Amino acid sequence: MDAFTIRVEDGIGWLVLDLPGEPVNMITRAVRHELDEALDRLVADKEIRAVVLISGKPDSFIAGADIDEFVALQSREEAYELVRSGQALINRLERLGKPIVAAINGSCLGGGLETALACTYRVATDNPKTRIGLPEVQLGIIPAAGGCQRLPRLIGVRAALDIILAGKQVVARRAYRVGMVDELVPSAILEEVAYKAAKRLAGGWRPKRRRVGAADLALDRNPLGRRVVFATAKKQLLKKTGGHYPAPEAALRAVQHGMKHGIEAGLDMEAAFFAELAVDDVSRRLVQIFFATTALKKDPGVEGDVPEPVPVSNLGVVGAGFMGAGIGGVAVAQAGVDVRFRDNDFERIGKGLEGARKILKGRLKRRRIDKYEYRRLDSLLSGSTGYESFRRCDLVIEAVFEDLDVKHEVMREIEENVRDDCVIASNTSTIPIARIAQVVERPERVLGMHFFSPVEKMPLLEVIVTDRTAPWVTVSAVAFGREMGKTVIVVQDQPGFWVNRILGPYLNEAGRLLQQGVTVEHIDKAMTRFGFPVGPVTLLDEVGLDVAQKAAKVLCDAFGDRMRSTEGMERMIEDGRLGRKSGSGFYRYEKGKKRDVDETAYEIIGAAAGSKVPREDVTKRMAYSMLNEAARALDEGVVRSPRDGDIGAIFGIGFPPFLGGPLRYLDELGAKRVAETLQQLAEAYGDRFAPCPRLVRMADAGERFYPA
Ligand code: COA
Repeated sequence: MDAFTIRVEDGIGWLVLDLPGEPVNMITRAVRHELDEALDRLVADKEIRAVVLISGKPDSFIAGADIDEFVALQSREEAYELVRSGQALINRLERLGKPIVAAINGSCLGGGLETALACTYRVATDNPKTRIGLPEVQLGIIPAAGGCQRLPRLIGVRAALDIILAGKQVVARRAYRVGMVDELVPSAILEEVAYKAAKRLAGGWRPKRRRVGAADLALDRNPLGRRVVFATAKKQLLKKTGGHYPAPEAALRAVQHGMKHGIEAGLDMEAAFFAELAVDDVSRRLVQIFFATTALKKDPGVEGDVPEPVPVSNLGVVGAGFMGAGIGGVAVAQAGVDVRFRDNDFERIGKGLEGARKILKGRLKRRRIDKYEYRRLDSLLSGSTGYESFRRCDLVIEAVFEDLDVKHEVMREIEENVRDDCVIASNTSTIPIARIAQVVERPERVLGMHFFSPVEKMPLLEVIVTDRTAPWVTVSAVAFGREMGKTVIVVQDQPGFWVNRILGPYLNEAGRLLQQGVTVEHIDKAMTRFGFPVGPVTLLDEVGLDVAQKAAKVLCDAFGDRMRSTEGMERMIEDGRLGRKSGSGFYRYEKGKKRDVDETAYEIIGAAAGSKVPREDVTKRMAYSMLNEAARALDEGVVRSPRDGDIGAIFGIGFPPFLGGPLRYLDELGAKRVAETLQQLAEAYGDRFAPCPRLVRMADAGERFYPA
């Protein structure tokens, strides 16, 4: 055996998993085979009365089934065979005849949790890396080694659905609270506590579990109540997935079926669904996204010789407005660095500190940190009206007003007050970094760090490099962005960068449709049905019409007519309708809540009388304008690869993950077909739709963005 070792200590068998040559433990074919053998030995050894299953890796219990193995599956039959053998093994573990304690430290995900669920008792560490959950639906499959059966029986249907349907991973504290694990301990005493539990179990003790809320239990036992739980879950699910993601629906059915007809029937259904989903296109694309984000975690952001990043322990944030506060708050919460705000007066600084603190408070409330950690992190926040202590900063991010003169002034001040090895970043969303860097003496240490709003929620960071940005500066910004928990893509300093560049024509097209008399609802619905989380008109309102218009102008100045926005937008801004923040845009807002469409908006923009454009046409015009621009910008080198472009669109705009991103989707549609459609659109609606040179070339040569 390579992966497992067994050691016996006073009647307790230690079953240690340490998959050689891998950073994490996962369940491969070989691991399954070895586990089977190990179980034989545990049964045969009469001295062993109870077992502790533990990992030999520092931060990974078991990270689930081997994803590489399941993407290699060629047919449903093969997938079915795989899942059945997995189920059989887990069933065997559960019925070993000797109690097993799962001692969990580090990732305990997917098949890892399903293994732990089949054990008699679970002890987990409070290590922040101990994450417990069933992420399968995020990969387009379902927990199919009994997860849909054992979890609801352990913690109640409602709580289990909450985890399974969203593919959630929770910290150990939360897992303990809902009853997924029986004991929560510091890492240092994991072995001791697990050993003692095994001893007690060997002596005939059985854990009493009563943590499932009484209300949940009553619901679970009562068929009518259960039906209500499932019906509600289904409704909420469909609202979220729009029917584009088959896995969560399948998981829901597998849970429901198992609760009604028993575990065996539930397992049958799990296996049948898994076999279907594992070879489905949606799953393949979601797995590609997982691989892309994993690869990005290791990408330093530069090619060739990779310099060491400057470690950031002191961050300066100039401009303590909403964005600045968000950046500072996430930096302290996520990376634990010292954050120093600088703004013109103490009122602003106070607000900035409050904004940053709100992020910490949120984490305290959700119990991601305890009150001691909260106090420690809070004490790392400070601010002043001067630049004193900026000499300690390793990185300074400016988030002041979007005005070139203001930015220039701030850049000069920053440069005067920081060390030579300090990286200087701008959080601009519209101004070219090279222009911002014009006034500094050493432009090689300047770049853009474009965070999205709200910083705490949005997962993407664009690191924008100019021709002069030095590689050490790029790698430092990329590394710190990642420490802040962001998925980072490096993009070229061109107008709109990547995300706003491809968003521009899309939002403009929404404006044109509105002007043409198509209703707000029709446009928004078309695009949410396509798979976007919100429609483009809602997005305009959220972003702010003035902000969107500013970005649109930058694009139009740079790229000309094809990026021109509509006059209607201008009139909305003149009328003070900036979207949610002003209480009215295309929708009405009451106490921060979005209400119905504000019909008077049509009048303001001068919309033509009601026009019936079929949904397919709306979708086509909207989506193809983005696809065309994505191909064009990639061709111009704005992003370094189709991978970065797709991840940027998915994490930055919410491009439908099940389509794999705009470039992956272009491959799926085929360059030829897209180029032809764009040509038709150009003839019908104008030159802005003319297929970009790259697509035309690809159509002629039958090329793709990704290898087939
Ligand atoms: N199958 C195959 N490979 C896996 C894996 C799995 N279940 N889980 C992790 N890995 C690999 C990663 O691809 C990466 O490989 P690489 O070094 O060749 O690039 C390596 O393990 C380390 O993972 P990484 O994500 O870089 O480490 P991390 O510490 O940041 O995160 C996890 C660790 C486990 C939280 C994260 O990898 C993860 O979420 N994995 C997927 C878990 C999952 O979905 N399991 C259910 C599968 S059905």
